Parts: sequence; C-alpha cells; structure tokens
Amino acid sequence: MKITMIGTGYVGLTTGTCFANLGNTVICLDIDEKRISNLNKGVLPFYEPGLKEMVEQNTKEKRLVFTTDAKKAISESDIIFITVGTPSSDDGEADLKYVFSAADTIGKNMNSYKVIVDKSTVPVGTADKVKATILKSQAKKVDFDVVSNPEFLREGQAINDFMMPDRVVIGAESENAKEVMVRLYKSIERTGKPIITCDVKSAELIKYASNAMLAARISFMNELSHLCEKVGADVKMVAKGMGYDTRIGPRFLQAGIGYGGSCFPKDVKAMAFTLKQYDCSAKLMDSIDEVNEMQKNYMAKKVESVIPQIKGKTIGIWGLAFKPRTDDMREAPSINIINSLLKKGAKIKAFDPIAKETAQKIFTGIEYCEDPYETIRGCDALILCTEWDEFRELDKEKMKSLMKKPLIFDGRNVYDPLEMRQAGFEYYSIGRK
Ligand code: UDX
Ligand code: UDX
Repeated sequence: MKITMIGTGYVGLTTGTCFANLGNTVICLDIDEKRISNLNKGVLPFYEPGLKEMVEQNTKEKRLVFTTDAKKAISESDIIFITVGTPSSDDGEADLKYVFSAADTIGKNMNSYKVIVDKSTVPVGTADKVKATILKSQAKKVDFDVVSNPEFLREGQAINDFMMPDRVVIGAESENAKEVMVRLYKSIERTGKPIITCDVKSAELIKYASNAMLAARISFMNELSHLCEKVGADVKMVAKGMGYDTRIGPRFLQAGIGYGGSCFPKDVKAMAFTLKQYDCSAKLMDSIDEVNEMQKNYMAKKVESVIPQIKGKTIGIWGLAFKPRTDDMREAPSINIINSLLKKGAKIKAFDPIAKETAQKIFTGIEYCEDPYETIRGCDALILCTEWDEFRELDKEKMKSLMKKPLIFDGRNVYDPLEMRQAGFEYYSIGRK
C-alpha cells in the first residue's frame, strides 16, 4: 500500500519505517526541513534501538522516503496517517493545533479517495473535527474517511511493540475504511493478539483509558510505597504478591520516582480535562496525576532529610532519561530532582548513556560525565534516576573508594537493601525499609 505519515516524531517515524519494512511504500512528511534533510542523510532526530538500521535498509530499497512536499506525498498515497505531536495546554487540555494543521494540509492537497488515520493521541470527538477541517479546506470535493488507530508503542521497544502488538485498534465508521486498515495490519495479527474494529469514539477512548489505567497502577503503588516505608514493609514484595493474581497481573506495578515521558503525564491530564468538559467526575484521574507530581518531588525531599546541609554538597546522578533505552527526557522525574537540588545549592554531576545531549538543552549548570564511576568521584551521595542495565551490577568497592561518602538513593529499587548495607553503604530506596 502507499502510505504517508505526517510528522516524523517518535510515533510517525517508527510506525512509518515499520510499515515500509513490511513491504509498503511509505512517504514520511514533515514541515521541519532540517529534520527531513537529516533523515535523508540517515541522521535520526532521536534514539530508538534498531530504528536507524531499519531506516537505512528501507531507504536503500526505496520503500521509505522523506520529504517536505505535501502535495506530492498526499496525492500519491492511499492512506494518510496524522502523527504530529499533541502537547498539553496549561489547563491539561490536549493542544490539537498541529493535528488540525495536518488535516488542513490534507484537505488542500487531496485529489482522490483517501483513508485519513488519526494516530496521534487525541481526545474523543477529534476524528469528527478532523473531518470537518478537511471538508472546509478541500480544494477539490473528493470522498474520504477518517479512522482512529491509536498507537501503543513504548519508547525503547517501539519496533517490537509495532511488530508484536497486544492488539491493533481500528475505529472506523465506513466498511471500506475498515477493510483497508485491516488489510494494512493483517500481516502482524497473531493468535491471541487481534485486530479489534469498533466505532471511532470508542477507539479514541481506548488509547486514553489504557494509558490512564497504566498510570493509575503506578500511582497506586507509589502511594502505597509511603505506607510501606512507615511500617517496614517492602513495596516490591507487595507488588510481586499482588501480581500473581491473574486478575491483577504483574506489570506496571513498580513504585519509583514517578512516571514521565510524552504520554502518561499529558494523557492523564487530558482525560481529566475531557471528563470535566462533559460534566463527569474526574476525581480518580486528578488523583493519579496529583500522586505522580508528589512522587516526582519526593526523592529530592528524601535526600534533603538525610543531608540537611545540601548547599555545597556534590550529588551524582545516574540516569537522566524518563526511562531506559531512550534519550527522551520529556517530563522526566530527574528534572524535578536536579532542579530542586540545584535550588538548594548542590553541585550536580550526571551521567546517562545516551540522554546527555537532550539534558544539555535543559540544564547548563551541571557537570556531565562520560562514565558512571567518573560521575561519583568525590560525591557526597548518588541518586539513581533511570534503571539502565549498566547500573545493575556494581563494583561496590570501587564505588566506595571513589565517593566521599557511601550514600545511595535508589529511585528505581534496583539494588538489594540488605546487600547494599552489608557492603557498607547507607542505602535508601522507595517503599522499602
Ligand atoms: C506522538 C503523538 O503524536 C502523540 O499524540 C502521542 O501521545 C505521543 O507521540 P511524538 O511522535 O512524540 O508524538 O511527536 P513529536 O516528536 O513532537 O513529533 C512531531 C513531528 O510532527 C515533528 O517532527 C514536527 O515537525 C511534525 N509536524 C508538526 C508536522 O510535520 N506538521 C505539523 O503541522 C506539525
Ligand atoms: C507509554 C505506553 O506504555 C504506551 O503504550 C503508549 O502508547 C505511550 O506511552 P512510554 O511512555 O514509552 O509508553 O513508557 P512506559 O514504559 O509506559 O513508561 C512510562 C513511565 O512509567 C516511565 O517513566 C516509567 O519509568 C514509569 N513506570 C513504568 C513506573 O514508574 N513503574 C512501572 O511499573 C512502569
């Protein structure tokens, strides 16, 4: 099939490349000329494992092209995906200006029947507005359908999530559009991993509801972690014991320093906004967000309670990205922690295997190190913010010899508390005595 992706961000570029890899012809369209010229040179705008190689391969085989030429891209394609960003406005509402701008571009340039796909995460009812925008901007009156096909890709494992999704959701009103979309995804459907077709509004809600539920599980465990600390229970053990209940399941029950990223924070806020917009109670949604905000500020408070005189102290940070295997720092809890410590007069030395460049755009007043051990040299404490694999096995003796004080705050509960204490560390984690 011939496909255009509008927007070459995390979702558009990954999805487009994966479709090309399945044998489709894919045009990746973006308004950002620098981004397109870089992509044409094989330079990707972000890090995602395996993506660079896949882009190279499919570009070489001419199934994948990058352009800013909307007219050519749209007129040559049967299916057009909208994968532009949908940031949060100040009040939590999803800002849809990029989505409508993409819809306008489609309307102006369409020459024959097209299936238009909302893949960006958009509030329920957006497909109708996209349809209205296209109708208004259409230069030539041609038929089209607007479909909702939400993405569920996790950064760091997006290719795998695309190729082996738990489910594919397609919301469409017309039979023709439904059939086109099912055909597009047929080759990745597997037993127990179905393609679900439904109405557009349910599809739009499935995405928000899924992310809000996952975020709820994390906030639930984060809230519980405080009680665990007070009574001397172990939140990891509690999660394990809960997770074996098949009705609950083990995933997304890890307490930590709060969830970040481009989706959970904004999607929970947007879900709350939509509920209120329709005069529904948003108590639970608001609380998920509130607990997370508290949790993102909790680690810095904990550090300050252990080191009352933070001013002038040197704190090492391991991991800056909002989670491992990505260089994305959108809404990363590390930002809250570092800002809070900087404000109190601490000196920060930080290391992340790949997010350094992203971090440099956020913080200038911190020292960036090239390896984890160099980072902790002369430090009064170490905070682990992102659970990169390379932090899992430690040379504890080396650490002790490098640090001014053997003091560790583990924001992701990576290490065993008993083992750390036996090795001579003063060790703090989340929700464990
Ligand atoms: C995506 C989804 O769109 C969002 O809804 C989801 O919740 C998270 O993932 P993301 O891929 O992270 O967003 O977006 P971003 O990295 O901001 O990239 C968007 C791209 O679209 C940029 O390259 C931008 O230049 C491009 N764009 C934006 C257009 O091509 N046209 C526009 O009109 C606006
Ligand atoms: C998420 C969704 O999982 C994906 O389906 C959606 O389409 C995009 O948003 P992503 O943001 O890439 O993906 O990361 P995810 O792995 O879901 O983690 C989100 C945040 O939650 C991270 O900050 C992570 O550290 C945190 N998290 C996750 C926890 O704190 N505890 C957990 O148990 C799981």
